[in-house]
Amino acid sequence: MIDSLHLMSNKEYKISVLSGDGIGPEVMAEAIRVIDKISSEFDVKFIIDEQLVGGIAIDKTSSPLPKETLKSCEQSDAILFGSVGGPKWESLPPDTQPERGALLPLRKHFGLFANLRPSICFPSLTNASPIRPDLVEGGFDVLCVRELTGGIYFGEPKEIKDQGDEKVAIDTMVYKESEIERIASVAFDAAMGRNKRVTSIDKANVLMNGILWRETVERVASKYPEIKLDHLYVDNAAMQLIRRPRDFDVVLAPNLFGDILSDEMAMIAGSLGMLASSSLGQSLGNGLYFGMYEPSGGSAPDIAGQGIANPCAQILSASLMLRYSFGLTDAADAIDLSVRKTIDSGFRTGDIFTNDEGTQRVNTNEMGDAILSNL
Ligand code: IPM
Ligand code: MG
Repeated sequence: MIDSLHLMSNKEYKISVLSGDGIGPEVMAEAIRVIDKISSEFDVKFIIDEQLVGGIAIDKTSSPLPKETLKSCEQSDAILFGSVGGPKWESLPPDTQPERGALLPLRKHFGLFANLRPSICFPSLTNASPIRPDLVEGGFDVLCVRELTGGIYFGEPKEIKDQGDEKVAIDTMVYKESEIERIASVAFDAAMGRNKRVTSIDKANVLMNGILWRETVERVASKYPEIKLDHLYVDNAAMQLIRRPRDFDVVLAPNLFGDILSDEMAMIAGSLGMLASSSLGQSLGNGLYFGMYEPSGGSAPDIAGQGIANPCAQILSASLMLRYSFGLTDAADAIDLSVRKTIDSGFRTGDIFTNDEGTQRVNTNEMGDAILSNL
């Protein structure tokens, strides 16, 4: 016991911090303050290496993912990511834009195939949900497990070409059994530590991919007899999630469907500004992973630069990093609790402000202050 405590206290972790564009730097600043406090309270050392990514990297180096940034990530224990993209870079050639030129290559380069997006609606925040109060009363906790390095995002061919006197666009959806198996295992493992229910999403009534997805998920499920598995077509899932969000536990989805449904879940839970995510590769053993941690929302150019964005998703992403990449469970629990307390005591950024009694509207920095003081 003493030995392990001793080991913990000497530990050093290198984090590549890629704040990116839009609200990225504003919310990242708050997450870094939280990490600094964790460092002193829990006696661990974090070496923070800030690097350029996305539009700002294009402006400064002409590449959305400079070599130096990639090298820093390769030499780190984890990547803490902000957000990339914005109107300024939308008309660049597709492959040089922030999303296609930085975010997707980072996911692919590090084999981060498992994207975990917890959609948690705090009981004290149900009023921020845009859906009928009786449907979210008491809150809910749904985990979206999204496949992140395959499917239609990455399949080849992927192009726009001339055909006769017009253009055609081609995207290819490809899944190998092995890719479906490994993401399904992540979902089932996660469900074992939760309410033991998995809802698998596909479009098996139209797509060949859906047929293979369903068959493969069924096969993986047979190794988890305690789990209750059901399947939903993605269109039906979009409807059921909004009708009865509290009935779901783990939602397992291919890349594109997971992208869409996780935004829907985030909004049902109250705001994209609350939702963290982790993108993990193969386990490194001891239940730890190399991972990239980022808010589920984007760069929000509409509110960037005003200091009003919600920093909770970025701070909770840092907490996921401590949990999954460093195994600092107590520190991660402490961050989650302080965010919870801050929300419960009425602090609200604009995205979750509902003008209820006992709540006050705060800016990014004030939200950070409140979370720090609860830590
Ligand atoms: C997400 C984002 C990205 C995605 C974009 C920015 C490429 O929407 O992480 O959900 O589609 O994966
Ligand atoms: Mg998305």
